[in-house]
Order: sequence, then C-alpha cells, then structure tokens
Amino acid sequence: MVGVIMIKSHNALLSLTFCILLLIIHSSALTNTSQLPCTSKTLDQLQEAVDKLLRQTSASTKETLALIHQSTRLTSETQLNTHQHPDDYSQDFIDKFEQLSQKIWTNDDLYQRIESIPLASLTSADKHTINHAKTLFSRYGFQPETGDIHLTPIAEGKLLNILQYPEPELHQKAHKVTEFNDELQELIDNMLTTMYQTKGVGLAATQIGVRRQVVVMDVSITQNHPMVFINPIVTPIGDTLLTFPQGCLSVKDTMDVVTRPKKVRIEALDRYGNPFVIEDDKLIAVCIQHELDHLNGILFIQHLPIQKQKSIATRLGHLELARELRPSIKS
Ligand code: NI
Repeated sequence: MVGVIMIKSHNALLSLTFCILLLIIHSSALTNTSQLPCTSKTLDQLQEAVDKLLRQTSASTKETLALIHQSTRLTSETQLNTHQHPDDYSQDFIDKFEQLSQKIWTNDDLYQRIESIPLASLTSADKHTINHAKTLFSRYGFQPETGDIHLTPIAEGKLLNILQYPEPELHQKAHKVTEFNDELQELIDNMLTTMYQTKGVGLAATQIGVRRQVVVMDVSITQNHPMVFINPIVTPIGDTLLTFPQGCLSVKDTMDVVTRPKKVRIEALDRYGNPFVIEDDKLIAVCIQHELDHLNGILFIQHLPIQKQKSIATRLGHLELARELRPSIKS
C-alpha cells in the first residue's frame, strides 16, 4: 500500500511543512534457495575468488565481473546463514569469515578495480553486481581515499499498478523472500520507480499484488535516499506511543491519524540479502510500521474506529461493504 501523509504546522516562529508519508508495500511469494549451509569450503571459494581478482589485473571486464559476483554472493550467503542460524556455526568459523570479509571489503586495490570498470556498456545485472560490492565495502566501514562510496545508478524501473481498497489481494499475507536473484532486483527497481512517480514515501509489494516481504521507502525531503527492507522484523522499544497522520496509495483521498509505538528496532535484509539493524523514532518508524501492516494484509484504515471505516467505504462508493464492515483488528 501506499500512504500519503501531509502535516502542515505553522506558528509565528516556525513554519514547518512536513510532508509526506507515502507508504507502499507489496509482497509476493519468494521461495528461498540460498539456505545452503556455508562451510569452510565456502571460505576457501571466497578466498580463491578474491585472490584471482587481485592477481589478474589484466582479466577482461567480463571475467572480473564474474569474480566480483561470486565474491559478493558468497559473502552475503554466509552473512545471511550465520545471521539466521547462529547455532549452526562455530565461533571459529564466524571469526574466520569476518577476518576474510574484512580483508576483502576494505581492500583499496579491489575497490579501485571495481570503481574503474566502465559502466556505459554494462547490463542492469552487472550494475547490480557492482552496487552489491560497494554496499559491502560501505558495510565493512571502508573509506575511499577520495570522497564517499557512490552507488551506481540502476536502470529505471517500470511504473506498476497499485491495487486499490477494497481489493481482496491487499489482505493477503506476504511470504519471506529467500532468493536474491535478478528478478528480485527488477521488482525492487520497479517498486522504487512506482513509489517516486506516485509521490509516495513507501510502498509494500502487497500493494502491487506481489506476496513477498519487500518494502521500499524514502522519507527524505530530497527524495534521493531510497531504502529497501526485505523480510523486516519490527520490535517496539519502550512504551511511548506516537499518533501520526497517515494516508495510503491504496486508499485514495483518505487521511487519518493512527497511534503506534514511537520507537522501533528494525531487523531486515537489504536488496542483496545482507542483514542490517536500525533503530528509529521518527518517520522511518512510522512508515515501516505502516508498510509492515501491508505485508500482513492490513490497511491503516483498519486501525480506525468502525464507524470511521464505514464512512470511508461509503465515501469511496462501496456501500455494501460499508454495511457489512465489522471491527477486524484491535486499536
Ligand atoms: Ni499504504
């Protein structure tokens, strides 16, 4: 779904215009294929790929990209497996993996090799491979000698159709994503394009009829900080609540306030399957809770009193639905 929230507050000293919560989430069924156990052989393969990368400075771009792809894939698979099944891995294995990863993803020569690959003729999949590698450099705290790590612009996605209330598909639960393949990358690009073109700040895969736990958001004023949350787990921190106006791209011309936990911890995977954790008590917290509801088949209007829900259904022309509406969730 997409939510649109606009808050305008003016006073004598400050004129603040906060705009904007558009939340869109769609999730669709992804099946997991990367749950292969990682072993010491995985580390050997990773070491071998990186040794080749660093040694073969005269390799063709195609060979280099294949090795980068292998290195990023092995790193992310191992990260994901050790994150999701910590009891299955010895401390020794995790220590060795961390040491190896640190060595690779803070290696300046490797970064410069990746940075020097000409982008003009690359396919979208190859650009993703480069972005994935740069994400790992960033995650391991690598600082390039000049400037920041810049992710490569990815090809524009397609504008997708956003399902509208009372479409039953909006009430389907999303499945976990388990395969971080090219198809997922295309879905994410399409969702980002759709979110930006519809002036949303969030979109869940559920809202485009895809039952996968995929959320894209951008709560920045400048709308140039895309965030991707795969399989998000949201845990409230503390007892403080926040009442905040919200709207949704899947419920047109409707805005109302919803009260939710103010501060949350979000555990999720990025678009390449790398686990990350953030805590927030501002727009990200508001938005992710709205989007998580979408993944669970819940629209923000279901948090409103039943009489309000009936009047929304009536106003949008769904008279029969308005008559039959019963409270469906608490709060
Ligand atoms: Ni929404």
